[in-house]
Amino acid sequence: MERMIALSKMGSWKSAMERFALAAIWAIFLAIAPAVEAAAPAGEGESVPPPPLGLDEVPVPEDNPMNPAKIELGRRLFFEKRLSGDGTVSCATCHNPRRGFSNARQYGIGIGGRIGLRNPPTILNAAYNDHQFWDGRAKSLEEQARGPMLHPAEMGGDEAKIIQTLRALPAYRVSFRKAFGSEKITLDRVTKAIATFERTLLSGNSPFDRWFFGEEKNAISAAAARGFGIFRGKGNCVKCHLVDSFSAPLTDHKFHNVGVGADGKPPHIGRGKISKLPRDRGKFKTPTLRDISKTMPYMHDGSLNTLEEVIDYYDRGGLANSNLDPDMKPLKLTQLEKSDMLAFLMSLDGDLPPIRAPR
Ligand code: HEC
Ligand code: HEC
Repeated sequence: MERMIALSKMGSWKSAMERFALAAIWAIFLAIAPAVEAAAPAGEGESVPPPPLGLDEVPVPEDNPMNPAKIELGRRLFFEKRLSGDGTVSCATCHNPRRGFSNARQYGIGIGGRIGLRNPPTILNAAYNDHQFWDGRAKSLEEQARGPMLHPAEMGGDEAKIIQTLRALPAYRVSFRKAFGSEKITLDRVTKAIATFERTLLSGNSPFDRWFFGEEKNAISAAAARGFGIFRGKGNCVKCHLVDSFSAPLTDHKFHNVGVGADGKPPHIGRGKISKLPRDRGKFKTPTLRDISKTMPYMHDGSLNTLEEVIDYYDRGGLANSNLDPDMKPLKLTQLEKSDMLAFLMSLDGDLPPIRAPR
């Protein structure tokens, strides 16, 4: 995070009127993005829209300022199958906007039907992650984006070929000039544009946010409100899926062993493989729970099919292993408490930006 400008929290954006105005600014911002004609990057710096209710300001690295043309270029690249080795796979194949930016399957499926070994996480709110991937092996969205483009089992692209393909398309040359001030097309710029687009994929202003931060009494059901009580109390979920007084990231950005994959042969090592520390064995990054109703199946290995199964898994205290997090204990939830918890989790579906695939 050193290079990031972490802007101050926006706790004062409280009233409904203010929030409405913010939503309008967002809409205008997205609408004008494709129409920017200036040769130099227009609107740089000033173009970070205020975050939706329940979220903090998005951190933006100093060496990759946001501007509307860069967001639009990133959106096109995100859906661009020609970046892949055989022209069949784009980022959106596994991070499909209609599937909560995941793929509704246990694993990612790349070129030639090749199957990865982890569940594609949503990329909603990935802009806030201190580390990317389940084991945190990438430090930024820019660094992360190179991975799948070149990975043989994902997009299987080749750096020289990607650059050559994009250079041959006049529309992209224009877009790179608008986004970066010159037509130079490099893999570094490709990843910068994609990361910039990802910084606009925010899920906030959910019924839960409107109830908890916006004080709209009827935004969620009585069951969901009780479920939040269990999430904070008896369930102890907030220990890792944080809810603060100004924002609800629903993750602590840390790594924990909750037992998933501990029964595998060999057991899943996760963070331990990156840090080489025995104490990190079996730890994976706490994911956000926003839009969780849409991103089944769950966990790093997609081993739990439904939210009911996830709740039952935690109720049992997770799978015992020598490194299990001390906060994992049998919860002894009643049937009603389980269904209340489910109602709460369903109230975390956000107000998403309107993302369309380019023609
Ligand atoms: C073949 C499927 C597939 C494709 C294509 C793909 N991804 Fe992913 N993505 C995954 C999987 C699986 C993971 C988790 C891998 C891991 O943690 O080891 C992931 C992880 C991520 C993450 C990390 C999110 C987090 O919370 O840690 C981001 C961001 C991301 N992908 C963005 C992209 C971008 C941008 C592209 C296109 C350049 C892309 N992905 C293409 C399957 C895919
Ligand atoms: C000790 C920290 C910790 C606690 C306590 C905790 N979680 Fe988690 N949660 C995690 C981690 C880490 C993962 C990812 C685990 C993995 O894939 O191996 C996760 C994954 C999940 C997922 C799946 C998300 C996805 O995108 O696949 C859900 C849903 C979830 N937790 C809900 C809960 C609920 C509900 C509670 C309380 C009953 C809870 N968690 C308590 C750390 C925690």
